[in-house]
Amino acid sequence: MTWLITGGAGYIGAHVVRAMTAAGEQAVVYDDLSSGIADRVPEGIPLVRGSILDRDLLGRTLAEYDITGVVHLAAKKQVGESVERPLDYYRVNVEGLRVLLDAVVDAGIGAFVFSSSAAVYGMPDVDLVTEETPCLPMSPYGETKLAGEWLVRATGRAHGLANASLRYFNVAGAAAPELADTGVFNIVPMVFDKLSAGEAPRIFGDDYPTPDGTCVRDYIHVADLADAHVAAARRLAADPGTELTVNIGRGEGVSVREMVDLITEVTGREIAPEVTPRRAGDPARVVAAADRISGELDWKAKHDVRDMVTSAWAGWTYHRPEAAGS
Ligand SMILES: NC(=O)c1ccc[n+]([C@@H]2O[C@H](COP(=O)([O-])OP(=O)(O)OC[C@H]3O[C@@H](n4cnc5c(N)ncnc54)[C@H](O)[C@@H]3O)[C@@H](O)[C@H]2O)c1
Repeated sequence: MTWLITGGAGYIGAHVVRAMTAAGEQAVVYDDLSSGIADRVPEGIPLVRGSILDRDLLGRTLAEYDITGVVHLAAKKQVGESVERPLDYYRVNVEGLRVLLDAVVDAGIGAFVFSSSAAVYGMPDVDLVTEETPCLPMSPYGETKLAGEWLVRATGRAHGLANASLRYFNVAGAAAPELADTGVFNIVPMVFDKLSAGEAPRIFGDDYPTPDGTCVRDYIHVADLADAHVAAARRLAADPGTELTVNIGRGEGVSVREMVDLITEVTGREIAPEVTPRRAGDPARVVAAADRISGELDWKAKHDVRDMVTSAWAGWTYHRPEAAGS
């Protein structure tokens, strides 16, 4: 099959492109480079520069490259920004998806993998979040991902499009330093940022009802996440009736304090964290029940949290050489 990978110049998309091509699949990247980096696309893989809102270019691209499946990662992804600019988020994440699906249906494509997020669950008050846990997103970003899942599923039913919505938990790490996330929006880069400046990393609240009082999350290495896309793509190709919604996490909770301690150890910057008040909207614990994906797709995460931090630090110092020696 030939897969169109939207957002393939982004952090996760670039890993998906590599995992798909390593598994013998053909890939074409479609990306407007609004946050992506062209150099992340491997040599020999076509990069079509354009927006998922551009229906004409999408139609031409699907035809020109004989695309038979789509992995859709292109989106805006900053939770805080989505609160300030909901119209932009709905436009790209929902309207962009609608335009893409329109082109996909028109081209008679049969397989669609959608990047969803644990943000669809909002503040789940459960030990392990299953795919049946009610979805009550807390931000416009989470809402757009949930609306996206509905749109993908409804289109799948109406037009015979095999589909999988993958709900990523907390993504970290890099398969190679140059592929690392360059943004500072998640805990790992946020702690790197503070430590590189010689400042104390911050822990937002240590009075949560968790063992050490700090929030607990489920971290997944981006290389494992990319492999899950290959497994999902293969499943859709093999079984045209597939309609799947799966958590992608390790099913293991790691507290913010444990993560900060590990990061200071790996980076060798032993600066004690500063505890500041809770941030609004942070749930105490969000950990995936990971059995559905292992059962359905025969996929299991291979990397632990130390692999994530070590590889993310290699990426951080690659992109910011001054941090390595500071
Ligand atoms: N990073 C995470 O922790 C995380 C967690 C859950 C879900 N996700 C989802 O995974 C996907 C990829 O996230 P990422 O972390 O790689 O982000 P990223 O910003 O690195 O990648 C997004 C890519 O989409 C492209 N893009 C954005 N708008 C576009 C448009 N209108 N047309 C074409 N291309 C466009 C960007 O240029 C970029 O290359 C997103 O859908 C995101 O919501 C990410």
